[in-house]
Amino acid sequence: EKGGYETFMLKEIYEQPAAIKETIVDRLSDGIALSELGLTAEEARRLRRVVIVGCGTSYHAGLVGRYAIERWARVPVEMEIASEFRYRDPVLDAADLVLAITQSGETADTLAAMRLARERGARVIAVTNVMGSQATREADGVLYTRAGLEIGVAATKTFVAQVAVMLLLGLWLGEARGTLSSTERDRLITELRALPDAVRETIERVREPVRAIAEHWQSAGFFLYLGRHIGLPVCLEGALKLKEISYVPTDAYAAGEMKHGPIALLDERTPVVCVACDSPVLEKVLSNIAEVRARGAHVVAVATEGRKEVAEHAEEVIYVPRTDWMLQPIPAIVPLQLLAYEIARLRGLNVDQPRNLAKTVTVE
Ligand code: M6R
Repeated sequence: EKGGYETFMLKEIYEQPAAIKETIVDRLSDGIALSELGLTAEEARRLRRVVIVGCGTSYHAGLVGRYAIERWARVPVEMEIASEFRYRDPVLDAADLVLAITQSGETADTLAAMRLARERGARVIAVTNVMGSQATREADGVLYTRAGLEIGVAATKTFVAQVAVMLLLGLWLGEARGTLSSTERDRLITELRALPDAVRETIERVREPVRAIAEHWQSAGFFLYLGRHIGLPVCLEGALKLKEISYVPTDAYAAGEMKHGPIALLDERTPVVCVACDSPVLEKVLSNIAEVRARGAHVVAVATEGRKEVAEHAEEVIYVPRTDWMLQPIPAIVPLQLLAYEIARLRGLNVDQPRNLAKTVTVE
């Protein structure tokens, strides 16, 4: 059932173009169709706030969603870890839209957060990959990712599908609220449609360079991940992948926070993975890279193709295809998934079933 791949995780990484395509295609036939949300344009206009809850990888996909929704729909978004939110006595009411992101639809803390939000009068939408899961029964509306069954414990294709659906939702809300021009929306739709091919190309292109980097750094005792803005959730997710399947300690930080503590960790033995894709904060990321290098640490950067100047700053650069910068997390996560994968394999570990972890966390 692994279809010729050595592990489910690798198979699922290769299934990412299809996961994105399935998730977006028939919602883009005529503008953006998300009728399953059960939200009218008028209700979208009246929203005062969006609150996104989730755990682990789903939380990271939510972080990308926050940028997209705030940028395109101009509504404030709060991002919450479900296990914190549920015990925080959160302030919620009927003007709030709560998006509960859960691949399995069965995560205990996310379900509890949904129940609490509904009790307090908020409208709750489940973003899930599993039809008929508990989350779909506890929600006012459901937005499905269509990644297909994911067997590897480490989420890969479900993450890119979650990000894709959050981007769609951001565009839909922007359209409904009149905050996104139709020209801009159409341009972004064209970019979204091109993502499956971009991811296919990314996998092909980065496989070898990532393997070489993994071989070089397989024995490193610690990896730091740095990024800004939309690159930050990519770092958080990349760092989670590495720690969960290779058991290598990692930290992921907003690059601008480096000076406030983590810089003390750096020495000549530290690999630092920087997401340095095109964005309005690229210059800032490049100066952070220079600061890292000045401490003797080694920088592996993920950059947008054609950005030669990143190579002047970093020792290793992995290039990913260009897309709109807000969509860049999707191609950018691919080399980080593969880096974690290759390091875990070189260390002889079972990537599909890492120790101590379960695919579905039904207890809090
Ligand atoms: O099923 P869910 O999306 O609610 O699961 C949440 C987390 O347990 C999950 O995303 C976990 O962090 C990933 N499997 C890690 O790769």
